Amino acid sequence: MNQVAVITGATSGIGKALVELCLKAQIHVIGLARDSEKANNVKREYRDISGANLDFVIGDLKDNAKAKASGEALMALIRQKYDGKIDILMNVAGTVTSGFHENEDGHELTFAVNHLSIFIITRIMLPALKKSSDPRVLVVSSLSHYRAKMNWNNVESKKGYNILKAYKTSKLYNVFFVKEFSRRIPGVNIYAIDPGLVNTELGLKNTTWLAYTIWNWRRNKGTDVYYPTRFMVDIATQDAYKTMNGHYLKAGKSIPANPITEDIQHAKKLWAYTESCTGMNYDHID
Ligand SMILES: NC(=O)c1ccc[n+]([C@@H]2O[C@H](COP(=O)([O-])OP(=O)(O)OC[C@H]3O[C@@H](n4cnc5c(N)ncnc54)[C@H](OP(=O)(O)O)[C@@H]3O)[C@@H](O)[C@H]2O)c1
Repeated sequence: MNQVAVITGATSGIGKALVELCLKAQIHVIGLARDSEKANNVKREYRDISGANLDFVIGDLKDNAKAKASGEALMALIRQKYDGKIDILMNVAGTVTSGFHENEDGHELTFAVNHLSIFIITRIMLPALKKSSDPRVLVVSSLSHYRAKMNWNNVESKKGYNILKAYKTSKLYNVFFVKEFSRRIPGVNIYAIDPGLVNTELGLKNTTWLAYTIWNWRRNKGTDVYYPTRFMVDIATQDAYKTMNGHYLKAGKSIPANPITEDIQHAKKLWAYTESCTGMNYDHID
């Protein structure tokens, strides 16, 4: 029987390539997209891949209410089409943003999209994942997390906002989340993914001229989207990765993350902070 995967950020870059590779691996895909026209274009582009279904749910991840509504809409489709069960969740959506922006809840936008929404979507998907015999969650972190610090006086990078600092800090939180999740939630394997530098439009979307120009120049040094995504499909499906729960993986290999991510007190404190930001917890999974 086909596995079922939910993929966020499914309309461009790494997420879109994952949609293609999953369909080709006969995995049914539900993509989360914020733009219905882009979703329709992806559906059209991949319509000749046979043997697996592609559906899209339209939703945004920029604040708590929208992320929760996106998760609930995903669950409604999962219940309707796949008996309430999925096997794989790939948290791919992410942003890098010039200038300080606060969302509806008063959280910094990069922190909200890259960290809080992953906590929300993963929590809402958990009952569906728990129905699988081999559930796996992938979270796309980044090499930049090695250069980030844990600063409890500026958790959301609000003070002295800097585009790269906000981004790398959110990617550090991805690794903390993966490691803490692996300690708290038995029976669901989770992995932090370092895709390396990849040639996508990530830094061209919410950036001013200078950041845009630098990103555009730098991205040409990156790999194409199929390089990291082939490993990601392996991580989501191959038996070898069952023993790597909570690991940080680059090119399919487990490597040490930033040593600070081994600090359990930081991880617990960030988890509690995230619970308070989202109003959600992982205490009782039904
Ligand atoms: N490219 C790299 O070198 C690199 C390196 C390390 C990590 N990463 C990570 O890889 C992930 C994918 O990035 P990418 O490089 O593939 O860039 P990308 O093509 O810009 O993909 C980002 C995806 O996230 C979606 N997204 C952004 N904000 C959203 C929101 N508020 N609500 C819902 N969806 C939203 C985008 O939707 P649209 O299609 O509508 O724009 C897009 O599909 C990100 O988490 C990024 O941090 C990338």
